[in-house]
Amino acid sequence: MRIDILTIFPKMFDAVLNESIVKRAQKKRKVSIYTHDLRDFTSDKHRKVDDRPFGGGSGMVMRVEPIYNCLRKIRRSGQRVILLCPKGKRFKQETARRLSGYKNLVFICGHYEGIDERVRELIHEEISIGDYILTGGELPAMVLADAVIRLLPGVLGDKNSLNFESFEGNLLEYPHYTRPADFIGMKVPQVLLSGDHEKIARWRKQESLKTTKKRRNDLLCKH
Ligand SMILES: C[S@@+](CC[C@H](N)C(=O)[O-])C[C@H]1O[C@@H](n2cnc3c(N)ncnc32)[C@H](O)[C@@H]1O
Repeated sequence: MRIDILTIFPKMFDAVLNESIVKRAQKKRKVSIYTHDLRDFTSDKHRKVDDRPFGGGSGMVMRVEPIYNCLRKIRRSGQRVILLCPKGKRFKQETARRLSGYKNLVFICGHYEGIDERVRELIHEEISIGDYILTGGELPAMVLADAVIRLLPGVLGDKNSLNFESFEGNLLEYPHYTRPADFIGMKVPQVLLSGDHEKIARWRKQESLKTTKKRRNDLLCKH
């Protein structure tokens, strides 16, 4: 997969994209990530990416031209162009799974009051990461990139870990424990020490249902 990110703050991505699983995925050539500085796609000497809103009002609006110019330059087949936007459809695990099927994702990170409405003519969809307002689309783009990349075949060492994660099958995951079996009196459930794999699987399923019922009953209603 190829991911292109259109941003006015490309350096923000350095830390996140060059660490951990995302870094490894790039090394293994499962994904290539390119950040594009929108200021490089302006045509004035001040490299202006924003301007005052028509009709007046507070704040600045991100200009359409730099985004259009950049999209033109990076256009290729199999591309899905996504605008990060609080007005978009809420991002979920199933969205990450769907997006992991594209050859090329393009993320447009907004800033200021928002983006010139005409950008909506240039994109395929809008995604929000939740009902709150962030300063810019960079953090949402990182969230999407991370969630999608870990689903790409061959990125995680053990692909089984994906099958039993929260939100798969509309359930939250069962609890985990590791050594020591007794930590200052807090004991690991006996069943996990039994070595009986069937019993352990049954216990995990029950715990998963119990946690989901308690914390996210709405997920169970989807069954
Ligand atoms: C300050 S916000 C603009 C909010 C806009 N005035 C509104 O009320 O909808 C600037 C940019 O941050 C990004 N952004 C902020 N919150 C977001 C969220 N919850 N999900 C996705 N993108 C978000 C978008 O790219 C947006 O264009």
